[in-house]
Amino acid sequence: MEESKELQIQEKKVPHLVILPIPFQGHVNPMLQLANLLHSKGFSITVIHTNFHSPNPSNFPNFHFEFIADGLSDGKIWTEDPISAVYVLNDSCQEPFRDCLSRLLSDGPHGPVTCIITDVAFYCTEDVADQLKVPRILLGTSSASCVATMLSLKVLQQNGLISISDGEPNTLIPEIPPLRIKDIPDMGTADPETCERIGVGIHNAMRSALGYIMNTFDGLESTELAKFRQEIHPMPLFEVGPLYKFSPGSSNSILTQDYSCMAWLDKQAPQTVIYISFGSSGSFNEKDVVEIAWGLANSDQPFLWVLRPGSIHGHDLVKLPEGFEEKTRERGQIVKWAPQQEVLAHPSVGGYWTHNGWNSTLEGICEGVPMLCSPYLWDQNLNARYVSHVWKVGIQLENGFDRSEIEWAIRRLMVEIEGKEMRERVSALKENAMRCMAKGGSSYESLESLVDLIMSL
Ligand code: UDX
Repeated sequence: MEESKELQIQEKKVPHLVILPIPFQGHVNPMLQLANLLHSKGFSITVIHTNFHSPNPSNFPNFHFEFIADGLSDGKIWTEDPISAVYVLNDSCQEPFRDCLSRLLSDGPHGPVTCIITDVAFYCTEDVADQLKVPRILLGTSSASCVATMLSLKVLQQNGLISISDGEPNTLIPEIPPLRIKDIPDMGTADPETCERIGVGIHNAMRSALGYIMNTFDGLESTELAKFRQEIHPMPLFEVGPLYKFSPGSSNSILTQDYSCMAWLDKQAPQTVIYISFGSSGSFNEKDVVEIAWGLANSDQPFLWVLRPGSIHGHDLVKLPEGFEEKTRERGQIVKWAPQQEVLAHPSVGGYWTHNGWNSTLEGICEGVPMLCSPYLWDQNLNARYVSHVWKVGIQLENGFDRSEIEWAIRRLMVEIEGKEMRERVSALKENAMRCMAKGGSSYESLESLVDLIMSL
């Protein structure tokens, strides 16, 4: 930011932002990254957080924290069904949020609240903010492609031009290439009525919001951003991604990251390691884990594999097949949770096998690492399809987990010419990201406009 703008902030009273993330890793990360970024611009920050999945406030000495009741008492169930959790959160948090915000308005530690920034999925905040007359800005944590696709789909369905419920999953949808029926975002195990209510809640909550922030960049999703911008006009759209690059080193992790793998990565040759992580909420059956393990072992590539405790159905402890450890001891490393952004930025990492959550996809792209894609639900199928067929920087595993297919896909990615070409394309996208973040770039300018908007309140 220009020096004069920082001075302006200092001279004016310091704007006080209240942020409210949805308490799942893929939502907490971009929200706290945004908060860090805005704090670095001179704003004071209060985080209102649920007791569920609460971050450790001592990791954020610059923020003030308030915790609210959330109705999610059995954490394990909700981790496995985040969509239903979002519904319960909106049902349970409205009153605690109202009480908390009222208290902050009358005697908060940082003076009057200038504005609240909430996750777009926290739609219960609309009524509260409107009644208490506090301006509200939204943060959407998925890609512009995902939001633009949902808009196209809605129009197609309203006009009776398409029905996806009874089609064969691999059928291409000609109106929205290159997507197939199975690439359309799906809500997992949540019941359709719950999904419908969440959709209506989000739609309504957009009515009185002052702006919409997205964690993406124009050099990746320009067409989709233009489409969404047109749709929400006159509400301004701020694409300020990749957020994690603007606020590096901030520890937003709900789980403890094991840094021991960094020393192991230091010992590996450049671009030889495949990093495997399937995000914060996915889980596998035992058979899948056996296939993944043997696929990795037979590929002969060095690997770093994140195996979260509880990520295998019915087992708190992870048990790997007999003989696997012996075969891979020299070239494999397993951790419970990794410092993913640092891992992907490490020169020895040459490939990334991912579930294609949006944060993970963005991190892979912005570190210039080509991907193997194993999406399982929500927006991940769509993200994977964009990775493999739009940006052409990855290969999607289409048939679940099969050791021969895995072995072959790892080789294609890590040693074949096909992988080299993908690496070149993803490196070009990484360059685009840097350009968008630099002074005069679209993300940089969008951030400036967001700061201007908040300062004008
Ligand atoms: C979920 C959905 O999967 C995703 O599709 C949606 O867009 C957001 O919510 P999640 O499954 O957690 O998120 O995936 P993702 O969005 O990729 O976020 C995971 C985050 O955890 C990433 O920022 C990643 O850096 C971090 N992570 C992952 C770690 O810090 N360590 C790890 O070992 C693995």
